[in-house]
Amino acid sequence: MEIDSSTTILRPFKLSDVDDFMIWASDDQVMRPWNTFTSKEEALTYIKDVCIPTLGARSIYILDRWIGIVLIYPGSDDDRCRADIRYAVAVEFWGQGMATKAVKIALSEVSKDFPEVVRLQAYVDVQNKAYQRVLEKVGFLHEGLLRKYCYLKGQ
Ligand SMILES: CC(C)(COP(=O)(O)OP(=O)(O)OC[C@H]1O[C@@H](n2cnc3c(N)ncnc32)[C@H](O)[C@@H]1OP(=O)(O)O)[C@@H](O)C(=O)NCCC(=O)NCCS
Repeated sequence: MEIDSSTTILRPFKLSDVDDFMIWASDDQVMRPWNTFTSKEEALTYIKDVCIPTLGARSIYILDRWIGIVLIYPGSDDDRCRADIRYAVAVEFWGQGMATKAVKIALSEVSKDFPEVVRLQAYVDVQNKAYQRVLEKVGFLHEGLLRKYCYLKGQ
């Protein structure tokens, strides 16, 4: 589906949008480093217990459809100067600037939600070029390569 990315908005989560969420959250291509959702009940619990109460979580909407997510996780105590960012977009919308637009909006709201955060960072699989390109387009700088850093889905 081809859509103008300028219509992308971020807005609060709604439990009633669970069916939209399941379209991309049950897709292994979108959830590649994360656990793929396998049931609507599991998704409802996640939206209720994680998405709604997490200040830095934003849902990406287009044409009133929930097509992705941007998550900003600030550190605590002495690590509260920095936050991690993660995002994902439904496959049918890839390559149309949706993630770039959504991440830009989320970044513009960071100082309001987390006034002590002065550094934003992201970890990305070296093979995930699209994810890296989005970071590059919104102004992130490449700082390094972490070898044998973590397991991704058991590997
Ligand atoms: C990464 C992701 C969010 C990108 O979403 P998107 O809406 O397609 O992103 P955008 O359209 O804003 O930008 C994608 C950019 O990557 C580029 N790109 C896509 N595939 C690429 C590839 N294989 N090599 C190089 N660049 C690539 C696009 O050309 C575009 O750059 P451009 O505007 O300069 O042409 C989406 O692919 C996704 O949800 N992936 C699954 C989640 C994920 O990877 N998580 C990993 C966390 S570590």
